[in-house]
Amino acid sequence: MSQKTKRVLLIGGSGQVGQALRAEPLPENWVFAAPPRAECDLTDHAQVQASINNFKPDIIINTASMTNVDACEKDSDSAVAANFEGPANLAAQCCHRDIPLIHLSTDYVFDGADGSRPYTPDDPMNPLCHYANTKMMGEESIRHEMAWHVILRVASVYSTYGTNIFSKLLTAIETKDELRMVTDQVGSPTYAPDIAKALIRIVDAVMGGKFDAYGTFHFAGDTPMTRYQFAQDIMQAYAPHIQRLPKLFTAVSSDFPGFATRPAYSVLDSSKLERVYGIPASSWKKGLAEAIAMHVAARDARNADQAQSA
Ligand SMILES: NC(=O)c1ccc[n+]([C@@H]2O[C@H](COP(=O)([O-])OP(=O)(O)OC[C@H]3O[C@@H](n4cnc5c(N)ncnc54)[C@H](OP(=O)(O)O)[C@@H]3O)[C@@H](O)[C@H]2O)c1
Repeated sequence: MSQKTKRVLLIGGSGQVGQALRAEPLPENWVFAAPPRAECDLTDHAQVQASINNFKPDIIINTASMTNVDACEKDSDSAVAANFEGPANLAAQCCHRDIPLIHLSTDYVFDGADGSRPYTPDDPMNPLCHYANTKMMGEESIRHEMAWHVILRVASVYSTYGTNIFSKLLTAIETKDELRMVTDQVGSPTYAPDIAKALIRIVDAVMGGKFDAYGTFHFAGDTPMTRYQFAQDIMQAYAPHIQRLPKLFTAVSSDFPGFATRPAYSVLDSSKLERVYGIPASSWKKGLAEAIAMHVAARDARNADQAQSA
């Protein structure tokens, strides 16, 4: 029996998670559109409205966001527009048309002050920086506007797509003699392709009429670690593929003045998502192995191309 067609609109398709979703084999019954930012800028309410009116989605996934935490601190108006006003307008439009909205948010909505246990979706938010504050306001506007939402908080997203903490670290490993990574920020790195797979399952459940599918959820890595441990594991996994490694030193956040304040501890408890959707936390071991293999394959292909054209 053929499944009912689902029209899925992705906003933010050129970002890391957006690219990971576009790289996944999508279900056959999906009619999928991911308009570029030039056609569907979240801060341009008329453009968003036109995208919805033209495509007529059954469901919308929003992965678009101003994610550069330090840039948000310096350009607070742009951060408010992209992370609060844009999602608020999107939610109003979805509400008006009864379209469910899946929206991504961040572990940084928590302050990390306690640090004794992973955060659950119901824990109180207390953002420490402007990026996190605008993401919290975005979440709250969606909750206020419409019941048919899934807010999915993710953390320290890494992959071979776009520029992110993983790609920046690999560039540093390849080019620098010394690295310093902080030991006073603990998070749960989340593999972008795992987020993409989770989004596909969430869309299917929501569209399938799952009664308890709406609300706020966490999806993050299964292994809490400091930034220093993150770098250590990546260096260990990359070691067989590189001739020399830089020396890795510990640091603390105050060694890097001028950066936005991050929570000291923002580990997310993903168990509600597993309970409701059957989606387990992202495996750090598996995600890291896959990301390193993809990076090495792309690097070797690039080098072979360069050797051929030299
Ligand atoms: N990356 C992380 O470590 C991390 C951690 C926790 C939570 N999250 C959340 O996860 C989600 C996805 O993050 P990501 O890693 O995929 O981020 P990303 O790679 O920075 O992608 C964000 C995308 O949003 C687009 N965008 C920015 N402002 C926009 C606007 N006004 N209208 C339309 N598109 C706009 C960006 O376009 P341009 O390419 O043109 O800038 C980019 O393609 C975000 O909600 C983020 O807050 C990310």
